[in-house]
Amino acid sequence: MAAEPIVLFDNGHHKCLMFDSLVTGEGVQSNQFLIVDGKHEALIDPGGDLTYTPLSVAASRYMNISDMDYVFASHQDPDIIGAIDRWIVHTRAKIVTSKLWARFLPHLVSGYVTSQLSGSVYDRIVSVPDAGANVKFGDSYLQCLPAHFMHSVGNLQFYDPVAKILFSGDLGASLGGEDDHLPVADFDKHIPSMIGFHRRYIASRKVCRLWANMVRELDVDMIVPQHGKRFEGPAMVERFLDWVSEMECGIDLMTQEHYQRPIDYV
Ligand SMILES: [Fe+2]
Ligand SMILES: [Fe+2]
Repeated sequence: MAAEPIVLFDNGHHKCLMFDSLVTGEGVQSNQFLIVDGKHEALIDPGGDLTYTPLSVAASRYMNISDMDYVFASHQDPDIIGAIDRWIVHTRAKIVTSKLWARFLPHLVSGYVTSQLSGSVYDRIVSVPDAGANVKFGDSYLQCLPAHFMHSVGNLQFYDPVAKILFSGDLGASLGGEDDHLPVADFDKHIPSMIGFHRRYIASRKVCRLWANMVRELDVDMIVPQHGKRFEGPAMVERFLDWVSEMECGIDLMTQEHYQRPIDYV
């Protein structure tokens, strides 16, 4: 059964729900998101087989999931869209993702599953260009923002203008913390749980700065990453934008030392 979701936003018609505890066993903690607008429903970064069943049960509380409109995938990772085959077979949802991954994701779908479909897998994928795009959803839309190289080469983030929530994928992720259902309370104390991930997974400070400039033009109440705690309220959002703009990471930190022939065995 699905754990109870955290309600990030609810005005009666439009809801944003977050699941933070569906991953069991050895998978890394991750958050999945269900957006409801009237009779319309979409998932953001639903994950792989680990989370398919509890998420589909949860989504079924709001509508017949076979009628789900969209599954938004920020990038190609297993914890993002590993169960694409299940969503494709059991729902009518279109899978919205970067054009860089549109031709690779069908590799996750077996020949058997493909034979069950009336059309091709590729027909079910909405391929978003590098510049991003707005996707009509219910009475509103979701904005697919370019967030390339943070971390994936073809990376989107999703902005909900009704809830004023930015779903930031792996950017802002924290690992190994506790109480991931709560927002960040003390930014400085939160940094150690983010820094290692960002230094290794995010490509460079340059792209973080460009991204932060774009986000400052949006009306953002909350930044919600796919792992760990969220940043709530204008002050905390600003702290994160400032921090990520100044953080050296990825190729900024690479030296010749990182590119040597290995001597150890695993
Ligand atoms: Fe990822
Ligand atoms: Fe992730």
